[in-house]
Amino acid sequence: MRVLVTGGAGFIGSHIVDHLIGAGAAVVVVDNLSTGREENLHPRAQFYNIDITDPALSEVFAREQPEVAIHEAAQASVDISVTSPEADAETNILGTLNLLEAARTAGTRKVVYASSAAVYGEPAYLPIDEAHPVAPLSPYGASKFTPELYLAAYRRLYGLDYVALRYANVYGPRQDALGEGGVVAVFAGRLCRGEHLEIHGDGNQTRDFVHVEDVARANLKALESGTALVCNISTGEPTSVNELVCSFAAVTGREPAVSYGPAREGDIRHSRLDNLRARRYLDWTPVRDLKEGLEETLRFYAKTSV
Ligand SMILES: NC(=O)c1ccc[n+]([C@@H]2O[C@H](COP(=O)([O-])OP(=O)(O)OC[C@H]3O[C@@H](n4cnc5c(N)ncnc54)[C@H](O)[C@@H]3O)[C@@H](O)[C@H]2O)c1
Repeated sequence: MRVLVTGGAGFIGSHIVDHLIGAGAAVVVVDNLSTGREENLHPRAQFYNIDITDPALSEVFAREQPEVAIHEAAQASVDISVTSPEADAETNILGTLNLLEAARTAGTRKVVYASSAAVYGEPAYLPIDEAHPVAPLSPYGASKFTPELYLAAYRRLYGLDYVALRYANVYGPRQDALGEGGVVAVFAGRLCRGEHLEIHGDGNQTRDFVHVEDVARANLKALESGTALVCNISTGEPTSVNELVCSFAAVTGREPAVSYGPAREGDIRHSRLDNLRARRYLDWTPVRDLKEGLEETLRFYAKTSV
């Protein structure tokens, strides 16, 4: 199968590309390397260094004729979305629209879209299932949700099929540990540099940490399964930031130095997503154990931070 992956030089996209190539697919990567890295690019993927908002994207689709597009490229920082909402919308909304136009004109069969738990906002109940109200707290949440509406419209108008995967907190090797990467990447990076861990608030806030390999497998399942489907990709398990610190301590055999600061304004206290729909319609279940995943993530940062 021929698959085009946007954001294939980024954290999640590059793992998806590795899995696709491992499964024998022909892969085309579109990425502008804004946060992605050249070293993440798979040598057997055909690479186009272009922006997803560029009209030349339709030429890439016309030339490469992908059967499916997996759309990971995005402005993925909540903070940037607050300071520059227009730039965020341009990439996340207009960039996705540009991709949908390119896909439907080239006769692409399906788009698999990386959505986010950020679309739900403050949880009204836990675990959050897909029937939970959509009430984003940030421009990022709004710009990740809007493309879901376009996907549904393009399916109705042109029969372009889609699966939108709402990821929980994804962690694993290659996540950006210096910027605003998830807390796992930030902690792993700091531990490898011998720095203490800074916790915002009391550390009892919980998140649903899903390993990037599980996320990549969900994307591969979505190539063939799921039609006009929106589903959560998560473990359904809550892990507090304090538990994360304990797991890191168990992995390293050392108690890390920790400091507690004020809670971040607007931070959600507890977040956990129900994954029954993905289990049912994608025949997917998360299999990676958190402790093993943390060990692997630490090994990655130990290699890259020297
Ligand atoms: N990491 C998470 O926990 C998480 C959670 C929910 C949803 N997501 C979504 O998953 C997707 C991948 O996120 P990630 O964590 O791998 O981020 P990332 O920043 O590592 O990857 C994004 C990739 O897209 C590329 N890109 C950005 N803007 C582009 C543009 N205009 N044109 C072409 N390429 C562009 C970047 O260079 C990068 O390679 C994003 O859509 C994000 O919103 C991530």
